[in-house]
Amino acid sequence: MREVGSRYLHGTEPLEQRRLSRLNDLINRASLRELGLRGGERILEVGSGLGQFARAMARAAGPAGRVLGIERSREQIAGAARAARAAGETRLAEWRQGDALELPLRRGEWGSFDVAHARFLLEHVPEPRRVVEGMARAVRPGGRIVLEDDDHDALRLWPEPAGFTPLWHAYIRSFDRLGNDPAVGRRLVGLLHETGARPRRNTWIFFGSYSGSPDFAAYVENAAGLLRGARPAIVEGGLLTAGTFDAAVRALDAWKRQRGAAFWYAISWAEGRRPARPLTAARRSRP
Ligand SMILES: C[S@@+](CC[C@H](N)C(=O)[O-])C[C@H]1O[C@@H](n2cnc3c(N)ncnc32)[C@H](O)[C@@H]1O
Repeated sequence: MREVGSRYLHGTEPLEQRRLSRLNDLINRASLRELGLRGGERILEVGSGLGQFARAMARAAGPAGRVLGIERSREQIAGAARAARAAGETRLAEWRQGDALELPLRRGEWGSFDVAHARFLLEHVPEPRRVVEGMARAVRPGGRIVLEDDDHDALRLWPEPAGFTPLWHAYIRSFDRLGNDPAVGRRLVGLLHETGARPRRNTWIFFGSYSGSPDFAAYVENAAGLLRGARPAIVEGGLLTAGTFDAAVRALDAWKRQRGAAFWYAISWAEGRRPARPLTAARRSRP
């Protein structure tokens, strides 16, 4: 079901929840490696979705750690609770319904987390800076704010399936039609700086595969699933006709069987630390 007033492009239909869950299977190990948890951390996961990565962080943080997942959608929270039950991990993480733009933290929780993490969230909010400001206030002085997000221009497919470029451009446009930034991945360090955090690291997580690799089909199916989920926004928004859209998605589906095909993408990843002095957002005019 699509929430009223939601700016979340993908929605929470069962097919989309399966896609998100498989996407987690493909990237969680790499995200966890970059995060480098040592054990015992108190972690805030913002936009926790189906909670798979929150539980992965909780396992890495161990029994002395704590993970609180904030998620706006009740369907996603119900899905996260179901998945945790199925895995016998109901006590690993706590879920709380709320908006990342107004973090629903209690008085003693502000300034208490060691890590605040958000992945694939900033691209879905109209004011990403406000989310990062909340995350910076949620961590203790010296605490880490870790952002992972998309810069959709980074995608390369070769040889390109018929109709793919206009299809991908229409998908990208569907984000700005909602008032969101499809290239927010390139702004992560800037956002950390603007909120008064000290940027500490900037990197990419490679997300790609090639024909012949056992996981190739899963990468292509993730891209096709994303696009199918955005079909109403693209077609009803007049960005492509239904016929052009459907033919291009069919060509992409068939492409996963093409020999010699390769898929490259990179997830933007950046980390900042909350300074010991009080947080003061950087002035906009500062270079
Ligand atoms: C693409 S999913 C990513 C989920 C998870 N971070 C992951 O990497 O698997 C984005 C999630 O952010 C949630 N979301 C979108 N806007 C939100 C907001 N303003 N506040 C809290 N959650 C939000 C959506 O409901 C969705 O579950």
